Amino acid sequence: MFARRVAVIGTGYVGLTTGACLASLGHRVSCADLDRGKVERLRRGEIGIREDGLGELVEAGIAAGRLSFVVGAAAALAELAEREGPAEVVFLCVPTPMGVGGVADLSAVEAVVEEIRAVLAPGTVVVNKSTVPVGTAARTEELLDREDVAVVSNPEFLREGSAVKDFLNPDRIVVGASKPDAAERVAALFARLGAPTVLTDAPSAEMIKYAANCFLAMKLSYVNALAEMCERLDADIADVTEGIGFDRRIGQAFLTPGPGWGGSCLPKDTNALLQVADSVDFEFRLLRATIDTNTRQFQRIVDKIRTAVTGARQGSLAKRRLALFGLTFKAGTDDLRDSPALAVAALLRQAGAELTAYDPGLPAAGLGPDAPVISVADDPYVAAKDVDAIVILTEWPEFRTLDWPRLAALTGTPTLVDTRNLVDPDVAVRAGFSWIGLGRRVRSARSAG
Ligand SMILES: NC(=O)c1ccc[n+]([C@@H]2O[C@H](COP(=O)([O-])OP(=O)(O)OC[C@H]3O[C@@H](n4cnc5c(N)ncnc54)[C@H](O)[C@@H]3O)[C@@H](O)[C@H]2O)c1
Repeated sequence: MFARRVAVIGTGYVGLTTGACLASLGHRVSCADLDRGKVERLRRGEIGIREDGLGELVEAGIAAGRLSFVVGAAAALAELAEREGPAEVVFLCVPTPMGVGGVADLSAVEAVVEEIRAVLAPGTVVVNKSTVPVGTAARTEELLDREDVAVVSNPEFLREGSAVKDFLNPDRIVVGASKPDAAERVAALFARLGAPTVLTDAPSAEMIKYAANCFLAMKLSYVNALAEMCERLDADIADVTEGIGFDRRIGQAFLTPGPGWGGSCLPKDTNALLQVADSVDFEFRLLRATIDTNTRQFQRIVDKIRTAVTGARQGSLAKRRLALFGLTFKAGTDDLRDSPALAVAALLRQAGAELTAYDPGLPAAGLGPDAPVISVADDPYVAAKDVDAIVILTEWPEFRTLDWPRLAALTGTPTLVDTRNLVDPDVAVRAGFSWIGLGRRVRSARSAG
């Protein structure tokens, strides 16, 4: 069987999934991270993130002698060279967070390039898997300054919570390079997956990643705006999205309103593309409106809670007690980065509300130092005790089947603000709640008779 020697730099959601999955496909992989504690835990098979199947793949890779973890990018190249021979492909999977003014911060990418440039074997292919602005492959070539090393863009589309499944069953694989043979070598690593493969130039590959994420963000902002319209027009967003989702040109996905989009990718990637647009003198109004609509959404949710709890749009939330159900940026993950739930929580705190929260996926490390003041309970029934309202902020499916009559009895006032339209309003109302969703009619126990 054909097997390549691969180094993966960065062992977060993308790097660890890439390393473990490539090892499961038979490749010889050495993964590097800067975080010594993380590397030690990974060597013991402790992955530290919530991803189905990833722990098993890591353990299997280590046991088969195909997967190892070291501290530092250059060390990964040295370890692989000693164990199997020089790395043929090096994946960069390091963070590219939002930098000053919204531009992508490429310092981690540049640091790795600087660290490895002198120790790469001739003929190595360096692959940018991190999400990077258009032009980064060319910039990486300049920084490497190695005629004998090729640079390829291979953006990643996995979703947190289903990272392994997405990696091994991708909708498509995108590989872009100025040297077609380098692109084909990278595409060959994934040949066993049998996915449609787009071979293109590097700027187009880089653009594909931003174009996809910005489109998804746009779809969500659009549906949140539609939900607001529905409230004003007495229409029902659930029926509207069902009606448009059957249209194959539109599709059902990403059509549920929510408290705003967030996570480790959409906010930074929308802002980064806006900056790229600026840099080529293009006023990307549609994208700007997508971002502005989202920023406004957090406040809209707070206003909704305020009205639900006080009965008035201008009412005060000072000292009002709220139970937040869900803090992660979406269900199925433990990731709190740029979570819309935390953005809403911060605004609620500013308004004086007292917050308790329950989230089934909260990381062991807790909320982190920058999070708003929230008292976290490990049981929803504890979080809901004597509150003025329960607010669902993350779409964890298990919330649907909580004991809603018990929750109604525990709360001071049985008010449920469901920003994900998750719980069946009939179930909530039968339990004694007033149910306030997004883009749907308010349902109260009294009006149900
Ligand atoms: N998380 C996602 O769902 C997702 C999906 C597709 C693409 N991406 C993109 O992939 C990239 C990585 O994202 P992530 O979520 O995996 O990040 P992450 O923060 O989970 O992990 C990054 C890892 O890189 C390590 N690192 C940083 N600098 C390093 C260096 N110089 N040498 C070695 N290791 C270093 C960090 O310690 C960390 O463990 C980003 O560009 C992101 O936009 C992320």
